[in-house]
Amino acid sequence: MSSKVLVSKADGVLELTLNRPEKKNALDIEMYDALTEALLDGLADPTVRAVLFLGAGGAFTSGNDLVDFMQSPPTSETSPVMRFLSTIASYPKPMVAAVQGAAVGLGTTLLLHCDLAYASETALFKMPFVQLGLVPEAGSSLLVPALVGHRRATELLLLGEKFGADEALRMGFVNAVVPTAELAATARAAAARFGALPPEAVRQTKALLRAAFPGLKETLSREGETFIGRLKSPETAEAITAFLEKRAPDFSRFA
Ligand code: COA
Repeated sequence: MSSKVLVSKADGVLELTLNRPEKKNALDIEMYDALTEALLDGLADPTVRAVLFLGAGGAFTSGNDLVDFMQSPPTSETSPVMRFLSTIASYPKPMVAAVQGAAVGLGTTLLLHCDLAYASETALFKMPFVQLGLVPEAGSSLLVPALVGHRRATELLLLGEKFGADEALRMGFVNAVVPTAELAATARAAAARFGALPPEAVRQTKALLRAAFPGLKETLSREGETFIGRLKSPETAEAITAFLEKRAPDFSRFA
């Protein structure tokens, strides 16, 4: 198991901590595989009643590792990132997130698949897919407009506008905003509440709530296919090279 994803179990909760603080917990291939494996283990373990996602070192996650996007991009729906996305999108047990600091890309879209989410005052959300020459992922092109309406979704997905914890609460990305010192305990306590509930009724209720999005699977594959194509685009090469060179991207040469 990767040390970049810490896995533990307590009080019926499978805790998955993103632990790559020197890169703001950017998700690399090894981490996607470790997360998917741990989620599938949790599915098979009847003592696991809920999953909790946390980030180490003051950040949640800065999203997909941009070096990996350049050097070993996903190529099909069996690639590690795509497997992880389809696992969270269809996960039958409750998932909870505790977000502090940066929650970029998947750091924000993961919350769309979590049943409960808590943010500390330091949380900063952003879905900069277009800025990277990419398109929305994780079903966000369906789930974000459903959550916030088409107008606001356009600002978040097409312009890639960032937003803080209070705005995340207002829009319904999170259930509550709490002081950083209380974040992990609040999220742990919320996740542990599932342990006292009848598990089958929880799973069936979650399935009924998710049934509101019958097109999610198809959206995921359509987004995935487009995203994989975009990763080969010169626009994305410019955006990621600029990030790694710590300069502003220049898209002026593209038509
Ligand atoms: N992929 C790869 N490396 C990343 C990364 C990512 N998604 N996010 C951060 N890092 C690296 C930085 O390159 C830097 O590495 P270095 O110390 O070797 O220079 C280190 O992590 C710390 O990041 P830094 O940018 O210095 O921290 P910050 O606090 O100033 O900013 C972020 C934090 C998250 C706002 C900023 O790093 C960022 O915008 N990252 C890219 C987010 C992104 O576009 N993700 C993809 C979404 S699909």
